[in-house]
Amino acid sequence: MDENLERIEVGLLLQGIYAQYGYDFRNYAYPVIRRRVWHRIQAERLETISGLQEKVLHDPSCVKRLVSDFSIAVTEMFRDPHFFLSLRQRILPRLHAWEAIRVWVAGCSSGEEVYSVSILLREEGLANRTEIYATDMNPDGLQKAQNGVYSLDVMQTYTSNYLRSGGRHVFSDYYTASSRGAAFRPELIEHVVFAQHNLATDRAFHTFHLILCRNVLIYFNGVLQKEVFDLFHQSLVTGGFLGLGDAESISISDIRYNYERADPLQKWYRRIK
Ligand SMILES: C[S@@+](CC[C@H](N)C(=O)[O-])C[C@H]1O[C@@H](n2cnc3c(N)ncnc32)[C@H](O)[C@@H]1O
Repeated sequence: MDENLERIEVGLLLQGIYAQYGYDFRNYAYPVIRRRVWHRIQAERLETISGLQEKVLHDPSCVKRLVSDFSIAVTEMFRDPHFFLSLRQRILPRLHAWEAIRVWVAGCSSGEEVYSVSILLREEGLANRTEIYATDMNPDGLQKAQNGVYSLDVMQTYTSNYLRSGGRHVFSDYYTASSRGAAFRPELIEHVVFAQHNLATDRAFHTFHLILCRNVLIYFNGVLQKEVFDLFHQSLVTGGFLGLGDAESISISDIRYNYERADPLQKWYRRIK
């Protein structure tokens, strides 16, 4: 297929989804969107992008599946353990200065990152004065996050990640294993508010001392990344911390002049003005 024409058709599809459903993928990284579109075309037994457009516009269940495709929900607990070790050793000790702490986990997927942060806050004696806001655009992920039940198959990896991120307890004490899977202790989400929030279309809704947004911005183009950095800047108190994924950086945005690196090796930034 002619590349230019393909781009036009993908653009029309995204425009249609935005006009009809309000989901805005127009500033997502094109190569990822293109791949996911063709994946969905095959899964729906269609042949063309315009065929998918027609189905999506008339069948809300199809757009739900496409949103799930675009959402790329891959995640794990204590993902990149060195980042969580840095959170434990370098960032959390600096949060003790605040009496009440608000944390925003933006793009929390099915919640593994939220439970990881919650465990760290407990172990570092901050849980009782912290409120976590865990948001994602995808309601299915949020439901899984609230359920807090994960496959037993991944517990070995999560245990190893936990230990590498400085964990000193018995990791299996945090969950109950059954035929349903590993059900994490409900106390871990006692101070968590789960809510749907779309970084591309929704505004700032609170101010925070710590924002984690990992492995989400890599799916956005430069325009949307800059908008989201502005949103985070509005949402972060002076002195607060922003944590990004290994492949993400604030260097593309003008807000970089208001931040210092809080760890030379990990993607932790501190707002200084
Ligand atoms: C690859 S997962 C990252 C999960 C977790 N932060 C981590 O690092 O393991 C990307 C998540 O970003 C969410 N996401 C993508 N676009 C979004 C948007 N515009 N607003 C909010 N969440 C979004 C997806 O639904 C998905 O759950």
